[in-house]
Amino acid sequence: MSGSGALWGGRFSASPAPEAHALGSSIAFDRRLAPQDVAASAAHALALRDAGLLSADDADRLIAALGEVGAEITAGRFVFDPDDEDVHSAIERGVTDRLGDLGARLHAGRSRNDLAITDLRLWMRDAGERVNAACADLARAVVDRAREHAETVMPGMTHLRAAQPVTLGHHLCAHAWALARDRQRLWQWAARSSVSPLGAGALATSTLGLDAAATAERLGFAAAFANSLDAVSDRDVVQEFLAVAAIMGTHASRLAADLARWTDPALGWAELDEAFATGSSMMPHKRNPDTLELARAKAARIAGDLAALTAVLQGLPLGYARDLQEDKEPVFDAADTLELVLPALAGAVRTLRFDEERMRAACRDDGLYATDLAEELVRTGVPFREAHRRTGELVRRLGEEGRALGDLTDPEWEAYGLAGGAGLLDPDRSVRARGGPGGPAPVSVTAQIAELAELLEGEVGPD
Ligand code: ARG
Repeated sequence: MSGSGALWGGRFSASPAPEAHALGSSIAFDRRLAPQDVAASAAHALALRDAGLLSADDADRLIAALGEVGAEITAGRFVFDPDDEDVHSAIERGVTDRLGDLGARLHAGRSRNDLAITDLRLWMRDAGERVNAACADLARAVVDRAREHAETVMPGMTHLRAAQPVTLGHHLCAHAWALARDRQRLWQWAARSSVSPLGAGALATSTLGLDAAATAERLGFAAAFANSLDAVSDRDVVQEFLAVAAIMGTHASRLAADLARWTDPALGWAELDEAFATGSSMMPHKRNPDTLELARAKAARIAGDLAALTAVLQGLPLGYARDLQEDKEPVFDAADTLELVLPALAGAVRTLRFDEERMRAACRDDGLYATDLAEELVRTGVPFREAHRRTGELVRRLGEEGRALGDLTDPEWEAYGLAGGAGLLDPDRSVRARGGPGGPAPVSVTAQIAELAELLEGEVGPD
């Protein structure tokens, strides 16, 4: 009789201290891996069968029992035992409770070391697809609004100060390009991470002749591990998922930041739909952008998830160590957070009401055209530095006189070097003059949208 009911109890004469068990137990969070643990265990049962270690009938019975236990866990009907340290031990115990000796055959040639990371890879694969679809949906929402506003002019910013006119469509496409890259990063991660660790055992495979490649194929992975020690030690697969998630979270955050600014009533470039705005408990007039603020802030926790796992991994020698159990919560948190943020942001984008007139009115700021003037002087042969200086001096003098570029008389324009310069103080002319590829002109925005629409086709990615 062993002193502990744990899977590894044989070597022990006493049970773990309750506080050690409390620290070590991961069941509270890794029960989410039950469907993946069932799938991995079923594939393993077939590997045991193919190696002649289980009859076909026994393998079928094991797989059926695995399915029942998994379904009970998912439905919240499974009765956990205090000795169930994690989802892997709980499922194995549940199967053994049902099948007795047959259940006890399941763990041959595998370890929780290869099983845990197999489960997590399977979970991340599904989560990656869900996040990818949500990211695509947000990007499509952004592109749809860009299509409506390919010609809408607005001040473009640097240092959050009016810089040069752009089109709203151009600005929105800039966000969509970032999200499109995030999807590419997820595809690339998915391709690189399509490796099955199962069969690596604790660290050195097993003597039982299990076909890891067949297991990989059954689980839908592109390949089995190339090195069993790497298979159980590799967490860059998790780190990279978190890095991709952190970048995506950053992009969602920056989009939210722009929308929060545009919907500031003091600026009034857009209005949030009531369904995505919040009132104040004290100030009756408020319509606050809490959805956007949370989308902006949630990126911080995903960055924290990446930082946490990175800190766990650095300096950790190869071979499984319990430190690696800390890989799961950051991944769950990052995926859950993105699955909250991306749809909320997509809804806010779809229902936003842009005020084209306010944006156009903001383009009356003459400074927006100073660069166009300087570039026009360049066309007449003036060196750019000289054109920049001459224009800067003009803008300074007008400022001192309390006038604007629009107040210049024809003789003043001539003195500056551009007869007809007043015609340049026009946002539509300004953006249309930038019709090259990637520029803010409507023609370029339309071309960008066509490219983006192609990239954003499909829920998941290129096959
Ligand atoms: N719950 C553990 C984890 O997630 C399973 C692996 C336990 N392995 C071990 N050798 N103690 O990492």
